[in-house]
Amino acid sequence: MTQYVIHGGKPLSGHVAISGAKNAAVAILPAAVLVEGVCRLENIPNISDVILILDILERMGARVRRVNRSTVELDCSGIRSAAVPEEMARKIRASYYFLGSLLGRFGKAEVAMPGGCDFGFRPIDQHIKGFESLGATVDIVGGNVIADCQSGLVGSHICLDMVSVGATMNIMIAAVLAEGLTVIENAAKEPHIVDLANFLNSMGAAISGAGTDVIKIRGVRRLKGGSYSIIPDQIEAGTYLAAAAATGGCVTVDNVIPRHLACITGKLREMGAEISEGDDSVTVCAAKRLHKTNVKTMPYPGFPTDMQPQITVCLALAAGTGVVTEGVYDNRFRYTAELCRMGADVQVDGKVAVVNGVEKLQGCTVKACDLRAGAALVIAGLAASGTTVVEDVRYIQRGYEDIIPKFRGIGADITAIEVPDGPTAAAAG
Ligand code: EPU
Repeated sequence: MTQYVIHGGKPLSGHVAISGAKNAAVAILPAAVLVEGVCRLENIPNISDVILILDILERMGARVRRVNRSTVELDCSGIRSAAVPEEMARKIRASYYFLGSLLGRFGKAEVAMPGGCDFGFRPIDQHIKGFESLGATVDIVGGNVIADCQSGLVGSHICLDMVSVGATMNIMIAAVLAEGLTVIENAAKEPHIVDLANFLNSMGAAISGAGTDVIKIRGVRRLKGGSYSIIPDQIEAGTYLAAAAATGGCVTVDNVIPRHLACITGKLREMGAEISEGDDSVTVCAAKRLHKTNVKTMPYPGFPTDMQPQITVCLALAAGTGVVTEGVYDNRFRYTAELCRMGADVQVDGKVAVVNGVEKLQGCTVKACDLRAGAALVIAGLAASGTTVVEDVRYIQRGYEDIIPKFRGIGADITAIEVPDGPTAAAAG
């Protein structure tokens, strides 16, 4: 079992290069099942969620060639089965994208109900509604989702009941080879939605409107192979910017798309940090103590829920009282109990956290309960005085490539240590 040991209290400074976007990669890789021929994907993040999806593809019969650390070549022509191995599918939420791609390719799909971070009930009814609207029957049998449409999917008009990243992407994937036109209304607009559309279009799909709330997909007969480079990770970049702000440092994130970060940098600016943008970089400097603001998480272009724990750490150290409202999930404040053990003053009532800023945090042993909560505890440890030990870092490894060398590169005193496996209370990510 790996733990991170952090000697905190030092302002971070320097440059950090941002990797490819996790939530784009974990959709694009399953979508490659639709492609005939070799598909070369660049800027793939080297994280455990991606490694698991590549393992699933390989187990199903795809040829996966690692060209280098961030580039893979995939040939999915050898996939013969429309079922994803259950024990693998259950480990990762993004396995649900195989429902869309296998249904699109084979007219059937069988995938275990997805796991994922525990933020309360996370249904996939909108994915199912979309597949049914395209003509599939969908049943849940023994914990598996079984979708079937032997006569072939037919395009249709789908209005999502709520803005869902996963449902938007999954319906897009399924509809690419369907007959005729599919329209998704109330679609999510995240940068990774646009990235998936760009990937599919570069392989021959006909998708328009991605990045707006109406996406149109005109079915094509086939997708051919090609090359595609994944966008930089908005949340990874935001995490380093928040770490810079929380430690009173000055950090530049390189290889980013600054407009994807506007919702995050806007909040840091409101809190008194100085932000400057280059063509593909953003710098945050926090020379003075941050001050309070209020944050409400929302679908893009709102403030991302996946940055909520990290900005809460900034607020925990800011002057004044800020209110954080979680607008996406029912239960995404569990990590605040750990933060309070470090001296933070956070009171949670349902989907609202009232954060009374304190002058400083004290290091102690804390446990990550999910990916972004884990990242937030690392930031708290970097800002705190004394030593912080973060346990259950496997959650963090799901989504942050090279987090230790990257933080060390900007001056952090953080080390990964191996300890014997002990009992762990955490559930599968
Ligand atoms: N929802 C439904 N029904 C559905 C789908 C969603 O009720 O069929 C609800 C969810 O329960 C949630 C809200 O709608 O309350 C939004 O869920 P969404 O579908 O947008 O989220 P997701 O696709 O399950 C992805 C990311 C999450 C990120 C969210 C929101 C992946 C694999 N996961 O999840 O990423 O929080 O979008 O942006 O792409 C993370 O990276 O740490 C992470 C949790």
